[in-house]
Amino acid sequence: MENSITLIQEIKELKKAKHAVLLAHNYQVEEVQLAADYLGDSLELSRTAAGVEHDIIVFAGVKFMAETAKILSPQKKVLLPRLDAGCPMADMITVEELKDLKANHPNAKVVTYVNSSVEVKAESDACCTSSNAVNVVKNIHADEIIFVPDRNLGSYVQKMVPGKKIILFEGYCYVHNRIKKEEIEEMKKRFPGAKVVVHPEVRMEVIDLADEVLSTSGMLKYAAASPHKQFIIATEQGLIERMKRENPGKEFYPALTAKICINMKRTSLKDVYEALKYERYEIRVEESIARRAMRALDEMLKYV
Ligand code: 13P
Ligand code: SF4
Repeated sequence: MENSITLIQEIKELKKAKHAVLLAHNYQVEEVQLAADYLGDSLELSRTAAGVEHDIIVFAGVKFMAETAKILSPQKKVLLPRLDAGCPMADMITVEELKDLKANHPNAKVVTYVNSSVEVKAESDACCTSSNAVNVVKNIHADEIIFVPDRNLGSYVQKMVPGKKIILFEGYCYVHNRIKKEEIEEMKKRFPGAKVVVHPEVRMEVIDLADEVLSTSGMLKYAAASPHKQFIIATEQGLIERMKRENPGKEFYPALTAKICINMKRTSLKDVYEALKYERYEIRVEESIARRAMRALDEMLKYV
């Protein structure tokens, strides 16, 4: 702990000296969360990246998040402390696969989950995050939507927007897709009064058992405002730790066992410190791809 207090202090000094800001996702390890200037979900962090006035953004999250920050803030230096912090779901669809889908559905518009590569974003009409996927699809001018890469989020959107036809792709998040309905049922038996709050990347059978379906920050706001005291939270453990820390009078339980995204957990406080000190690893996005991806990201930023 003493070590991390010293590192947090050194990070603070480096941030000041270099006019840098630290953005961290809700799934980061606790000490990185505590060192962050901004902590949030994908949409909040994208908006923050687009608006901050610093020269350097250090992004403690996964690669697609840092790439999104770079596209939205091209004049800034964006650093990802660990190059091996990727999102496996983002790599599940290739540009060729998306082009095939477009060729097979010429009247459809493409809505791409922000958990995707820059090349796939560049081929899309709009991006979305877990917090605004439903609103993006509702508002886009098309009755047929190709939704990639997350089939679970896409299925949830289909449930919420029955008037449009959603064409799904077979991508998924290995952390959320693992959560089974039996785990929620068991937790409901143990805590019958608890509210079940799930991330929309879970399977439909889990969504069907939920009281609320929300993004990570949506879950946090809901729990803080709710008069209830017990919550079963179907998402990655990092958010559950934050909920416990910020709501000491309430109880938060995972879906039977803690679900961990190893990619989100790769970034240590030391990695953040070294990222700032050596200004590594700089994220670059080829300009013509960035320009096209920017259009889709701008659409995303229009909706809450
Ligand atoms: P949120 O945007 O809800 O934080 O989700 C990001 C993510 O990667 C979920 O697995
Ligand atoms: Fe990707 Fe899932 Fe990890 Fe989120 S939790 S970064 S979707 S692998």
